[in-house]
Amino acid sequence: MLRSSSRFGFSTTAIHHGYDPIEHHGALVPPIYLTSTFAFPSVEYGAACFAGEESGHFYTRISNPTLQLLEQRVAALEAGAAAIAFGSGMGAITSALWTLLKPGQEVLADTTLYGCTFAFMRDGLARFGVKIRHVDMSNLAAVASALTDNTRVVYFESPANPNMRMTDIEAVAALARARGALTVVDNTYCTPYLQRPLDLGADVVLHSATKYFSGHGDVTAGLAVCADPELARQIRLYGLKDMTGAVLSPQDAFLILRGLKTLALRMDRHCANAMALAQSLQGHPAIEQVFFPGLSTDPYHALARRQMSQFGGMLAFKLKGGAPAGKRFMNALQLVTRAVSLGDAESLAQHPASMTHSAYTPQERAAHGISEGLVRLSVGLEEAHDVIGDVHQALDRSLTSACTPAPLAVVD
Ligand SMILES: Cc1ncc(COP(=O)(O)O)c(C=O)c1O
Repeated sequence: MLRSSSRFGFSTTAIHHGYDPIEHHGALVPPIYLTSTFAFPSVEYGAACFAGEESGHFYTRISNPTLQLLEQRVAALEAGAAAIAFGSGMGAITSALWTLLKPGQEVLADTTLYGCTFAFMRDGLARFGVKIRHVDMSNLAAVASALTDNTRVVYFESPANPNMRMTDIEAVAALARARGALTVVDNTYCTPYLQRPLDLGADVVLHSATKYFSGHGDVTAGLAVCADPELARQIRLYGLKDMTGAVLSPQDAFLILRGLKTLALRMDRHCANAMALAQSLQGHPAIEQVFFPGLSTDPYHALARRQMSQFGGMLAFKLKGGAPAGKRFMNALQLVTRAVSLGDAESLAQHPASMTHSAYTPQERAAHGISEGLVRLSVGLEEAHDVIGDVHQALDRSLTSACTPAPLAVVD
């Protein structure tokens, strides 16, 4: 029976890795260990678990067999040594960073980050004496000169949420390593199916598993994957156990294990639909610029071809009419759902300046390259022509009409 992913392809690993039905009464689908605590056969064994001398499960905030299977599978998919599951992407981000950083150390972060990550650094880490500096990670010379001996963590998303700016992971990880810093990459937009940062030299990969991993909009979860098992141990026993307690429920781990089985199929469709939509948007009179690395005109196209296996399911565009046009566009949508989050079967549209990136001040958004009129789209799994049709009718209406929100169409 399958034990290791190394001989097998992506989907085989996503479906089988780490689970032998014969060891579980023949159950094809892994059972959910819906328990918060575990019985000790003796007090000596319990004490040994607490001392780290035994590896058994003893309390679900620290480990649980259902979570462990998910962690092993995701570690195999990301080519990492070990993974830790969390109750949200922010749980993964905060638990990892609380573990890696001490007062007086620095984080060198990209200028564009998911809004809550940005706010956590500005308001959370900084409050406890960690210095945060932002640099445009697509500018390698700027990264090299911004690194100091005090830089402990280099942090970025690629493509970045929401403006799709990209970072050369291999080059930045090499610069960071040369200065003794760890590279931490939020790989939520890509999943390991499209991009594997650890293979490119990163030390820690973070995920909001709420998105593509789960894929169905019904789970909130996160994961951290480490190249070094000792780092993973520290994040589990300090960041997760003591600092955040952001544990994932076994039921939600089960849903993500289910989602992983179809991740490759779903990502292929997300990517194909996003490419078709992006191509159709070029030259539309309402649009100033489309941000999608799959377009040959995109400044990150060559990097994306090198670093990603496909171009992803996320895109953004800037409307000529700025924020008012963005609102008119959003309110005119009839099939694409007005909602934050991403990676679901349903196509989702949101306005970063008033939603996911509202934690930035307007001045910070301007300085960090997040324009007020930017619209972000998570392209779903519907028929591409239906999504394209809805986006185009809403764009056409954004040029002219006042914005009374259109009720979402009932598809019959
Ligand atoms: C790139 C990225 N990272 C992290 C997060 C946070 O994840 P969660 O909402 O699961 O806490 C998000 C959420 O939208 C995200 O888009």
